[in-house]
Amino acid sequence: MKVAITGVAGYFGRKIMERLERNEEVEKVVGISRRKYDHSFSKLDYHRMDVRSDKLGELFAENEVDAVVHLAFVLNPIHNKKEMRSIDIEGAKNVLEASERAGVKKIIMTSSTTVYGTWPNSPVYTEESPVKPHPTYYYSRHKVEIEKVCNAFKEKNDNITLTIFRPCLVLGPTTEQFYAKLLNWPILPLVGGSNPEMQFIHEDDIGRAYEFFLMNDHEGVFNIVGEGTISWKEVIETAGKKAVKMPDSVLYPLLKALWGLHLVQIPPEILDFVKYPWVASGEKAKKAGFVPQYSSKEALLSFLKK
Ligand SMILES: NC(=O)c1ccc[n+]([C@@H]2O[C@H](COP(=O)([O-])OP(=O)(O)OC[C@H]3O[C@@H](n4cnc5c(N)ncnc54)[C@H](OP(=O)(O)O)[C@@H]3O)[C@@H](O)[C@H]2O)c1
Repeated sequence: MKVAITGVAGYFGRKIMERLERNEEVEKVVGISRRKYDHSFSKLDYHRMDVRSDKLGELFAENEVDAVVHLAFVLNPIHNKKEMRSIDIEGAKNVLEASERAGVKKIIMTSSTTVYGTWPNSPVYTEESPVKPHPTYYYSRHKVEIEKVCNAFKEKNDNITLTIFRPCLVLGPTTEQFYAKLLNWPILPLVGGSNPEMQFIHEDDIGRAYEFFLMNDHEGVFNIVGEGTISWKEVIETAGKKAVKMPDSVLYPLLKALWGLHLVQIPPEILDFVKYPWVASGEKAKKAGFVPQYSSKEALLSFLKK
């Protein structure tokens, strides 16, 4: 099998490559992202290319790509909303169109459990739950939008196996993402006194999940989550930090001001993600055959190197 991965130089890309490098069914991986990327994967044919490039279809066709994994997205928040939208939405559309033109047989599109949003008294979300993204957290809105684009694409491309992944937050020994930096703060807020359940998946399970769905055909939407949950207060205390109840009226304006001044990498909307629960069920993926090996707590501990 020949696989293409967009955003291959990022966090997920590296974990997926570790798996595919060892998988005998995978002959070659054509990977793209924009940065210079020194790597030691013998199967990876790396190209510095923007995901919006009109050369993408040619690259897939020339390499006779069978399956495409789309990861490229603006995960670490940026202030340029126009650029974010362009990469997230135009990028995803370009990947779908390039795949269609190149005769790709399978696509794994990466969405996120943020599509469910973060709301008071929310249930444990299943893939059937309505999506209700955060109103001002554009990342989650863009994920909902690309899922709709995928649904329309599938209607006219029934011959392509299309799988949509909704992973929860990923943690492990090599996490460098913005949300992990929150745990470096010496004091962490219980926003308005809330202590929601949190859910994580281990980075090795992420690599395994993509490998499993590349090797096995399962169409549709799948939550990709670790076992169990851990409360926000326990997360803070396990990280050796101090949990302090703080009122919304102080926290939101403070973070908004610091974000506006480019003094922190975390926009104020993120507070809602530790104020309300956004836990998803992994049962559907388990029934398909993907069983995570780590719990949410184990993922956290491995990130903390405990
Ligand atoms: N990390 C999580 O906890 C988590 C949870 C749920 C879902 N996800 C989703 O999983 C996917 C991968 O996330 P990640 O954690 O691996 O993020 P990441 O480390 O930021 O990786 C993103 C990759 O996309 C590339 N990229 C960004 N803009 C691009 C462009 N215009 N053209 C080509 N490549 C571009 C980046 O490289 P360059 O900047 O060098 O181009 C990088 O290689 C994303 O879709 C994310 O939304 C992540």
